[in-house]
Amino acid sequence: MKAFGFDVRWKVAQPYVTVEDYRKAALKRLPPFVRGYLDGGAEDLVTLNENRDAFLRWSLKSKVLTATGTPDISTAAVGQNLSLPILLAPTGFSGLYRWESDIAAARAAEKRGTRLIASTVSSWSLEEIAQATTQDHCIQLYPREGDFAARLMKRAWDAGYRSLFLTVDSPVLGNRENERRKGMSMPLVLTPWRMLEMAAHPRWLYETLRYRRVSARNLVSGSSFSDAAESFKIHARELVQSTLSWDDFSWMRDHWKGRIYLKGVVDADDARTAVALGADGVVVSNHGGRQLDFAQSTLAALPPIAAAVGGRAEILLDGGVRRGTDVIKAIALGANAVLIGRPFLYGLTVAGQPGIEHVLDIFRSEITRALTLMGVRSIRELDASWLIDRRDFSAKDDSQHTPLSLASSLEAHTQHEPKTIRA
Ligand SMILES: Cc1cc2nc3c(=O)[nH]c(=O)nc-3n(C[C@H](O)[C@H](O)[C@H](O)COP(=O)(O)O)c2cc1C
Repeated sequence: MKAFGFDVRWKVAQPYVTVEDYRKAALKRLPPFVRGYLDGGAEDLVTLNENRDAFLRWSLKSKVLTATGTPDISTAAVGQNLSLPILLAPTGFSGLYRWESDIAAARAAEKRGTRLIASTVSSWSLEEIAQATTQDHCIQLYPREGDFAARLMKRAWDAGYRSLFLTVDSPVLGNRENERRKGMSMPLVLTPWRMLEMAAHPRWLYETLRYRRVSARNLVSGSSFSDAAESFKIHARELVQSTLSWDDFSWMRDHWKGRIYLKGVVDADDARTAVALGADGVVVSNHGGRQLDFAQSTLAALPPIAAAVGGRAEILLDGGVRRGTDVIKAIALGANAVLIGRPFLYGLTVAGQPGIEHVLDIFRSEITRALTLMGVRSIRELDASWLIDRRDFSAKDDSQHTPLSLASSLEAHTQHEPKTIRA
């Protein structure tokens, strides 16, 4: 409606402009124990925060009057041409946020020209996810020799999965204290206070009780809260194993005909070993800061890994990617593409499939705009020469130019940073 020259709308729609907008809205919609599971990390959250801070280290170069046109941001990853350099990371139990969970994610990814990597502990079974989409699929498992893994691999292959991601950063579950403090446990312990917290989120409570998609459907056949408790047990007993070795990886390599990736690599020697043993790629990941606190940030770990295996294997990165410029920096430092975990879960929580699509659209428009402003025609042109190390100009007086959290994290990075990258 027009009035006095203004467009007037009576529907009060919350404008979601950034991933952070989705984060704030998503956290409001969830009771504290689910919020703690989604947004928390290990111990003092040092790695969780440094994953973000690491992106602040780099400024972007820009050149003017380059007649860039609309930059090409498509890339090749997981044996596919993706229309943007972002995949959706495997995230378990995502039916806790919204029942459509993995189906919504797989469909949103496909609609936006990319892929979901389905988690072993997804809330929908790998067959259900495959049936909901048409292209070939990606799945995450844990490396483990034996019948349990063989059965899952066969099911995945038969359902059309061709890229297998083996998560190797979880020989034991990370110490997620905040999650425990907020009452995230399986079985869920119901106290009067927890029931009040749930009742204070009626929409979440109604949908969760009505649709009940809270278990790991690859591991159990039901999807209620007691099935969820059972799937947590199976997860802990069969999948989180501190006895795993490179032999388990080699066994899986031998038993999988498709592409295979190691997820959770932060060490260049490990990346070399993985490729020597037949990995098609690695995901530089610390599980979004949920496993080893004080693990190096993934962006800081990337350059030596790119130097070790770049060109011979695909390199993907995740952890703290929240902006188009983060994607640009990761690619400039040697990644082929990135994974996002929490950002798409925020979109899922707020609006289901359209929410995830919108989060991907936000990334797409941020990447495209930033590349245009930089004068870059294609993400394939990016390399470290497009980055400027802020430490070079902030070294003289950190206090004037550098936020406090960045200053301390830069100090940490200074000690560990490889010497190879210099803009
Ligand atoms: C709630 C949640 C559940 C996750 N579940 C899994 C999982 O089942 N398997 C896995 O390999 N990684 C899992 N991850 C790690 C993600 O795949 C990814 O490494 C991480 O989320 C990337 O960091 P970001 O959230 O900052 O993007 C999970 C992460 C979150 C936040």
